[in-house]
Amino acid sequence: MTKRVAVVTGAATGLGRAIAEALAADGAAVAVTDINLASATRVAEAIARNGGSARAWRLDVRDAAATEAFYTEVEGALGTPTELVNNAGIYPDNTLVDLSEAVWDAVIDTNLKGPLLCAQPFVRRRIAAGGGGAIVNIASTAAFSARAGAGHYCASKAGLVMLTKCMAMEFGAHRIRVNAVAPGLIDVEGERVSSEYKRNFLPMIPYGRLGVPPDVARAVAFLASDAADFITGTVLPVDGGFLTGRPLMRAGSQ
Ligand code: NAI
Repeated sequence: MTKRVAVVTGAATGLGRAIAEALAADGAAVAVTDINLASATRVAEAIARNGGSARAWRLDVRDAAATEAFYTEVEGALGTPTELVNNAGIYPDNTLVDLSEAVWDAVIDTNLKGPLLCAQPFVRRRIAAGGGGAIVNIASTAAFSARAGAGHYCASKAGLVMLTKCMAMEFGAHRIRVNAVAPGLIDVEGERVSSEYKRNFLPMIPYGRLGVPPDVARAVAFLASDAADFITGTVLPVDGGFLTGRPLMRAGSQ
């Protein structure tokens, strides 16, 4: 059996943290990476306290040179990575008419270019190791359902969905599976999404609740594992049914 070594980006908080914890619980040694090293270190320490194997690294997914150097370090410390979860992402609110070029670049660089930069050194090492492995990209229901104030974000995630399919096509010959998870609204700690937005969103979720990070982490853990062998190039919504359609009933149909 190959030793499982998982790289998770943006793993200091939110979904990334839950994903790192789930993969560690499944027996992977986890490289907990984030632009914020102090928080990533706390996550790795918590995983170790619970009996898992984890180490923290500072990694800015927009930085190609740093990404290459990071993989060399991980290889020495934990072994050749077998799984990569491209989770790091940002979602600022900006209407398109006055969206600055700097914010557009930040969103596209983090959410779309970052997953490619993190995948390239991963895939080169998987090929050198004889193939096999899995990539899971964290997209969003925003890839399929437009949201006002999120043109940059929706475009970045729609791009990531197509990048997932192209990766699956190119890397399949090396038995590297590539899938995406598309979370709906997931309640993460902090104030990144207002209570009013959450209240307004809730009626659009057939399942009747917001998501929580373990909902997404379980789906990622499945797609990263051998249980998902032969599944590649897919997008799995984890959204309580949000993408099923409009929740409005026509008058008289109730
Ligand atoms: P979050 O803001 O709680 O966590 C994101 C993490 O990424 C932070 O720790 C941050 O420091 C890190 N990060 C930001 N820029 C980075 C960079 N350049 N390099 C490395 N790390 C960086 O966000 P959350 O909610 O946990 O989101 C995680 C992913 O899930 C994102 O890709 C987001 O777009 C996606 N998502 C989240 C949803 C939600 O409702 N929370 C819904 C759909 C998708």
